[in-house]
Order: sequence, then C-alpha cells, then structure tokens
Amino acid sequence: MTDIDLLSIASFAGSQPHEQFEWLREHSPVHRHDLPGGEPFWAVTRYEDVKTVGRDAATFSSSPTIMLHDSSSEEPSPFGDHVMMLMADPPVHTRMRRLISKHFTPRASQALAARVDELATQIVDEVIEQGECDLVEDLAGAMPSFVIAELLGIPLEDGRILYRHTEALHSSDEAIASEDRSAATMQMFEYSQKVYAERQANPTDDLSSQLIHGEIDGEPIDSIDFFLWFLLLIDAGGDTTRNLVGGGFHALFENPGELERLRADVDGLLPTAIEELLRWVSPVIYMRRTAMADTTLAGQSIAAGDKVVMYYGAANRDPSVFAEPDRLDLSRSPNPHVAFGGGGPHYCLGAHLARIEIHALLRAMLTRLEDLSPVGTPEWMGSNFIYGPTSLDVVFRPGPRVG
Ligand code: HEM
Repeated sequence: MTDIDLLSIASFAGSQPHEQFEWLREHSPVHRHDLPGGEPFWAVTRYEDVKTVGRDAATFSSSPTIMLHDSSSEEPSPFGDHVMMLMADPPVHTRMRRLISKHFTPRASQALAARVDELATQIVDEVIEQGECDLVEDLAGAMPSFVIAELLGIPLEDGRILYRHTEALHSSDEAIASEDRSAATMQMFEYSQKVYAERQANPTDDLSSQLIHGEIDGEPIDSIDFFLWFLLLIDAGGDTTRNLVGGGFHALFENPGELERLRADVDGLLPTAIEELLRWVSPVIYMRRTAMADTTLAGQSIAAGDKVVMYYGAANRDPSVFAEPDRLDLSRSPNPHVAFGGGGPHYCLGAHLARIEIHALLRAMLTRLEDLSPVGTPEWMGSNFIYGPTSLDVVFRPGPRVG
C-alpha cells in the first residue's frame, strides 16, 4: 500500500501526487484521511464520484466552508452572518450568482477578448528586450491580476499587489505564519473598503460599482458583502489562472515533443492544448463539501456532517475516462476534464474568461518569445489547496517591443 498523505505540501511540490491518486482510485476511492487539528475527511478520487459530489448540492453542501479545516468555533467570524458565494448553497447561492453571472457569460467574456489581447502584448513587451524573466511572476501572474483589476475598476498595479496577498491566503500553515495570513486578509479588507466608499459616492460602470449598488432580494450589498465578493473575485481569478500558465509551461518544458508540436501550429493546436493543460495541471487541488444526510458513495457509507473532498487532479487522470491519462496529448479530444469543477452550481464562473486570458497569453508567448527555455529550479506553492509554481526562470532570444 502506498503511503497516503494529501496534506503535506511536499506532496504537491513539482507534481501532484499521482501515484497516491492511482492507488486511491483503485483501492480506496472514498478514502478516510486523518486531519491533524480537525475531523477526518473522505478523499474522493474517481472521476464519476467527483462529478456526483459536485453536482448534488442538496446532499453535499458548500457550507460552512470548502476548505479542509472548519474555522475555529471559539473565534466568532469577523464577518458575522455574511457568506461568500463559494460557501453558500442554493437557493441563497442561486440568488448571489444571479447578481454577477451576466458579467461572465461567454458573450461578456468574448467582449473583453480584444482588451485581453492588448494586455498580452503589453505583458510580453515588458520582458522581451531582456531575454530573461520569471515566467510566473512577470508573465503568468500579470495577466489575471490585470484582467480582474480592469473588471473591478482598480489600477492594474494594485491588482498585482492584491493577488500576491491571495497567495498568502492559499498557503498552508507549514509554509506561512498565521499572522502573515491575517495581515494579508486585513490589507485586502482595507483596500475593498476604500473602493466601497469611493464607488458609493461616485459610481462608474465597473463591476465594483454594480455590486455596490446591487441588491439581493431587496437587501442592499453592504461593505462586508462587498469585501467577500472582492476577495472571491481576486482570489478565484488570480493564482488559478497564473498557475495554469506557469504549471502548463513547466509541463511543456518536460514534454519537449509536445511543445514543438504546439509551436509548429499555434493557432491550430491551442484550443485543445489549453484543455489538456487544464486537465494536466488542475490548479485547484480540491473543493470540500459537507454531507447533509447519511449517504453512500462508491459503496462507502458517509454520515451526515462528514467532510467529503473532491480531488480534481485525481479525477483528471482517471483511466476510465481518459485514455493514457499520464500522457500529455495536446490534441486530446474529447477532454471532459473537471479542472473548473464537476459541473454543479459552483462550476467556475470565470471559466470562459480564464480560457480567453490563457489563449491570449500563451499565443503571445509562443509566437514572440523565441527559444523560450527554463533555467534553474522552479519553486512551488506551499499549499495543499492550489497547485502550481511560484517561480520559473526562463531565457529566450531578445526581441523588439510591438505595443
Ligand atoms: C485556470 C483558471 C481557473 C481554474 C482552474 C478555476 C477553477 C475553479 C473551481 C475548481 C471552482 C469551484 C467549482 C466547484 O466547486 O464546483 C471555481 C469557482 C469559481 N471561479 Fe474559477 N477557476 C479559474 C479561473 C477563474 C477566473 C479567471 C475567475 C474570475 C475572474 C474565476 C471565478 C470563479 C468564481 C467566482 C467561482 C465561484 C463560483 C460559485 O461559487 O458559484 N475563476 N473555479
């Protein structure tokens, strides 16, 4: 039996723990996993079971949290009864999502494509003359933080600062002191309150103003609600997309034949390549649910109140769905991966926008940065929740700016 440890950040440095996932899918697909300092959880690793849990919000609730640990019951939540959409269940979740979903439809996302292309040009321009950069920090991280800053109507550079704070929020206790995590939350809070006050007084047509002047069932959005929306959008849209691009290039560098294929036919192969990189990297490691009633999953009895945790990276290598799952195949089709979730009510709201950002940035990098190759050793997130490199130094042939 393989040693199972889905908590240690070492299990997620450089690769997801695919040997463990393989053993679990085969021998213990709903596996009882201890959690120091908390109640144990069921780790779900097969594709069909991940979809079942994700789609059945009545049995598998997102409340009180989608993280492994419940927040300590001794400390009252500083946010009172306010909930973030990600941790709400229908029908409250449905009403919250309705408030914001029109900004993320395929059509609304497509309307941003030209601007996203300009940002990709600008981001590559910033490094192209140097012939070297940190692919994660300078390229992959810049795009999502700029895009979310534009949507929220804040300066692009502030988007970068705020998204760095989200990295602290996602880091495990092993990797970061809890005071640093609290300080990051506080800075995000203060920033959101400043935006709230400004847009209350002077609304514009940005998403912040629309949220601040919106209401749910006749109830206005107060400053705490706005903070939770702000945090969710910066958080959900930031290092996930960054890690897909950083982790995606890491995978391409490790599979030079596939990188060559892609370079030879960027426009032809990019659509399927993006889906394959999403499957391969699976930047969100898990989402947790809590059983609302006694139930059974893959023959395993689950009691009401138990934690049930979907491992997307494991589902995305399930051989019953993906032929040769451990082979990176940029033309894989169909590719019904669950990197954006298993398709239930919380399915990634930003999936269309993420694909547009990833397409623009990958295209600009692959067509403009000639001989792009890694140097040194990448550094990885200290997290068992979000997966990807935090630093990946690269060199390339210097070229001219075009923007
Ligand atoms: C590669 C990039 C991304 C990945 C892998 C990703 C993945 C995910 C996953 C796994 C979930 C939870 C799904 C579930 O529980 O069923 C989620 C939810 C969410 N994502 Fe993304 N995401 C990405 C990019 C984005 C972007 C760019 C945005 C917005 C700008 C965004 C906004 C959201 C929001 C708001 C939710 C919560 C939806 C809800 O609770 O109803 N995501 N995402």
